[in-house]
Parts: sequence; C-alpha cells; structure tokens
Amino acid sequence: MADRRGNSLEERILKLKKERNAVILAHNYQLGEVQDIADFVGDSLELSQKAAKTDADVIVFCGVHFMAETASILSPDKTVLLPDAGAGCPMADMITAEQLRQKKKELPGATVVTYINSTAGVKAESDYCCTSANGVKVVAQIDNDEILFVPDQYLGDFIARRTGKEMTLWPGYCPTHVRILPEDITKRKREHPEAKVVVHPECRPDVIALADEVLSTSGIIRYAGREDVSELIVGTEVEILHRLKKENPGKKFIPASEKAICPNMKLITLDKILHSLETMTPEVKVPEEIRVKAKAAVDRMLAIV
Ligand code: 13P
Ligand code: SF4
Repeated sequence: MADRRGNSLEERILKLKKERNAVILAHNYQLGEVQDIADFVGDSLELSQKAAKTDADVIVFCGVHFMAETASILSPDKTVLLPDAGAGCPMADMITAEQLRQKKKELPGATVVTYINSTAGVKAESDYCCTSANGVKVVAQIDNDEILFVPDQYLGDFIARRTGKEMTLWPGYCPTHVRILPEDITKRKREHPEAKVVVHPECRPDVIALADEVLSTSGIIRYAGREDVSELIVGTEVEILHRLKKENPGKKFIPASEKAICPNMKLITLDKILHSLETMTPEVKVPEEIRVKAKAAVDRMLAIV
C-alpha cells in the first residue's frame, strides 16, 4: 500500500533498507514480489555464503527460520531479521538436539552429517553441515565408513546411492516434496514427451528414479539456462517457476505437482518486510555457546565447496 506521499510499498522498503544499511536475501521459494525486491535470490548454500560475506549491518532474511539462524551463526555482529517469526521448516523440527545426542550415544564412532535444514542446536551437535547442492561432495570426502545423516532420509538416501557409502538415516522428510508422486512425473512426461525432468533431492527415491537430473534449487535454475533445455518438468516447490520463467523467456516450465507448496515460505510478504525494517524485529540470534559449535560444522562445509 502507498503511504501519504504516494510512495509504493516497494519504494518504502528500498528507502528504509538504505537508511538501515540492510541487505535483503531471499530463497528461491519466496513469493515472486519478494524475490523481485531482494538484493540476492538463491539456494541455501549461496545464501549462507552471502550471509558470511556481506558488509551490511542488517540482514533481512526472506526464507525460513533455519536459514536466518545460519546467517546469525556466520555473521554474529549483524542484526538478522526474519519478517515472520513463525516461518519455520517442519523438516528441521523433526530432530531435536537432545534426540541427536541420544543417537550419537548409540553410534559413538559415527561422523554426523547434518543437512542445513536443521536447528542451530542440532548443527552444534554435528561434525559437518551440508546443503542439497554439496551433500554428495561433503560425504564423499569423509574418511569414515560410519556416517549418521540427519534429518532428511531422502536426501540421505540420494547421497548414499551417489557416494556408495552406507549411512544411518534419520527418518525426517520434507512435507512439501513428498507430495510429488511418481505418477505425477509419468503423467507430465506423457503430456510433454519432449521435456526433460529435474527434481530436488528432497523428493522420494521413486520420484528421483524418474528424473534426468537431481539438483538444488539454484542448480535447477542453472540447468534450465542450458541451450539444450527448452521444456522442463520441475519437481520442487512451485514458486521456483517465477525465477525460471523470468530468466528464460520463451522456454516452457511445467510444475511436476501443483501441490508442492511450502506454506512457511509464503509467510514472508512485502508488508512484513517493511514492518520488520521499521521495528527491527523479529530478530533471530543464536546464543553464543551454540553458535560457536554450530559454526564449526558450517565452516567445515564451506571449506569443502
Ligand atoms: P535448496 O538449498 O536447494 O535451495 O533447498 C532448500 C530447501 O528448503 C528445499 O526444500
Ligand atoms: Fe522445509 Fe520443505 Fe519448506 Fe524446504 S520446502 S523449507 S524443506 S518444509
């Protein structure tokens, strides 16, 4: 909504962003208008790299809670704002730090690899972090036959197959990606026989088995830009189509399932971004003793990619 002087919501956000010396980071699943106002849009790995490097005083994180926590872990001196404090990741909440401590007692020799979609408390109990973009690379270089992977069983299964390593998998999953079924892919392939199929590694193994490529969200965007790709069936959260279409006019993108919507990602709106910059809330700050331990796991990952 415009203010009394006729400034649009976008103009008001950009003005305040400048005054606060803030940077707006957005995940590829954010609403189109949020992506369009952001300084940077990316996948979890790229967003954590940006958060580690920015010289802004304030990071407005348009994503979910664990992503804002990762920014706080890497940039403790900056104010990290998550415009809706309720924007969580249900998969990240499928394991607690206490549950991980118990599991580690059962597997004392295991190296713990934790998907970045996890709480700071869980990261603090881990040896390595990884994202969907670098999970295979991180696990491949671990010199231990005993690996415990948490919390996503499907990303874990994908990494185990690609690396040939046996891993103990925590039974977590993404409620959004499991809505994509193998029959959705076969139906789409029938409708679009020329199209390539790309899916996110959070998808079920029987969906992954039907894909030409399995990639992180930004990996999907890079793949779509290739000259030999003109029609693409996309097996991940539907909002990624905003960027795919914007960056590839003339190409055809088909969501594998219209049901793949992450409601938490949709909680961030332009109104809430403006309110967040006005009030400098809600702030996400990881307590120092957890932050230091969690940072070690994130840094081990960043040293590999
Ligand atoms: P990416 O790191 O591939 O962007 O995935 C994050 C995520 O939450 C997928 O559901
Ligand atoms: Fe979490 Fe799934 Fe939403 Fe990604 S899409 S933030 S894994 S619930």
